Amino acid sequence: MSVCIIYHSETGTTRAVAEQVAALIGADLIEVKDLAGYSKVGMYLKGAPRAAQGKKADIEPAVIDVSGYGTVVVGTPVWAGNPTPAVNAAINALVGIEGKAAVVFCTSRGGPRKALERVKEMLADRGADVRGAVPLTARDAKKPEAVKPLADLVRRSEKEGIVQ
Ligand SMILES: Cc1cc2nc3c(=O)[nH]c(=O)nc-3n(C[C@H](O)[C@H](O)[C@H](O)COP(=O)(O)O)c2cc1C
Repeated sequence: MSVCIIYHSETGTTRAVAEQVAALIGADLIEVKDLAGYSKVGMYLKGAPRAAQGKKADIEPAVIDVSGYGTVVVGTPVWAGNPTPAVNAAINALVGIEGKAAVVFCTSRGGPRKALERVKEMLADRGADVRGAVPLTARDAKKPEAVKPLADLVRRSEKEGIVQ
């Protein structure tokens, strides 16, 4: 089984989900950093409008080679109803994503709004075979029973590819 989980997390919630899934199924973790280095206020004043406009951040790592993996998981915080600029850039930075199984998740305070659909669209545009998407709240991130269905979806995708 070879899964990588690519995620962005400014305040730790998306990271907590990614780490739980990795612990459950044995995946590699790739954290994407937004080089803008937002302050708490800056995230709202600058980051949220950029997310709403679908902008791409300058990120580290600048290139993400997934050619060695069977399934690619992408996790994003929801900012202004959208994926973060770091995740927009991360999808653009993928190498070897064509034809790969992909699973998406987001974490938010209220709900995914457009975030999951946008990430699914961007991955499909890059040629990925998107198997499913799971919305989680910050509260879910602390509950193993809320994270488990995401891990199960990734496991199924990696095993045989049940389309959700
Ligand atoms: C700039 C900004 C914008 C946000 N916009 C939304 C939103 O539109 N809808 C929502 O439900 N939560 C929103 N949130 C809450 C985050 O999605 C939520 O706290 C998320 O779990 C943070 O992930 P992280 O801790 O991995 O950075 C926003 C948070 C920030 C910082």
